[in-house]
Amino acid sequence: MPTAPLLVEAFSETHIPEMLDWFSTLEALVQWGGPGLSFPLEAAQIQAMLAGTKAVAPERSMFAGLVDGKLAGHAQVALDWPNGVGRLSRVAINPQMRGRGLAAPFLREVTKRFFTNPAFARLELNVYTFNEAAIRTYRSLGFREEGVRRSSAKVGDVRWDTAIYGLLRNEWN
Ligand SMILES: CC(C)(COP(=O)(O)OP(=O)(O)OC[C@H]1O[C@@H](n2cnc3c(N)ncnc32)[C@H](O)[C@@H]1OP(=O)(O)O)[C@@H](O)C(=O)NCCC(=O)NCCS
Repeated sequence: MPTAPLLVEAFSETHIPEMLDWFSTLEALVQWGGPGLSFPLEAAQIQAMLAGTKAVAPERSMFAGLVDGKLAGHAQVALDWPNGVGRLSRVAINPQMRGRGLAAPFLREVTKRFFTNPAFARLELNVYTFNEAAIRTYRSLGFREEGVRRSSAKVGDVRWDTAIYGLLRNEWN
């Protein structure tokens, strides 16, 4: 269990250096961020994501979880404003802080903040089907599996299955 309270705030430029060494292989990077990123993770890639948080109706929100002032977690929500749908993505707990039960409280707070905006009715996510720790976390928050896109990601020479999960506003809490 966490030894200090987990605080959640908007992810900002100052957090970037702390997460650059979180993904030590291409597979770990893709597991976190999907196949669109280039390995190794560099500040410019995260800065480009941050640029998407700036508009009045931004394309994404980005969150930092802090424990004892250290970056403990990162998460994003891509925002589909016309449909009132968010896609929880790029969720990670600092590798040095994994296995302490931080993921659920971090994402519970992110989910709470997302549903605070009445414009949004649904939060969804994609997760590779082998990712047990992530799936256990999402299920504990009430996300339901809605299907599997078989063989949908190519990582090096192997292919991964992607499960789709969703949580509707009236299922939250
Ligand atoms: C997925 C992730 C955020 C979970 O955080 P964590 O600190 O490892 O996990 P927690 O300690 O909060 O535990 C969450 C659940 O997973 C289980 N768990 C933890 N590590 C596990 C492992 N290696 N294998 C299987 N289950 C595991 C825990 O028992 C807990 O389940 P429970 O509440 O039913 O007991 C973290 O492992 C991570 O950052 N992984 C790399 C990036 C990633 O895969 N992101 C998700 C993309 S969809």
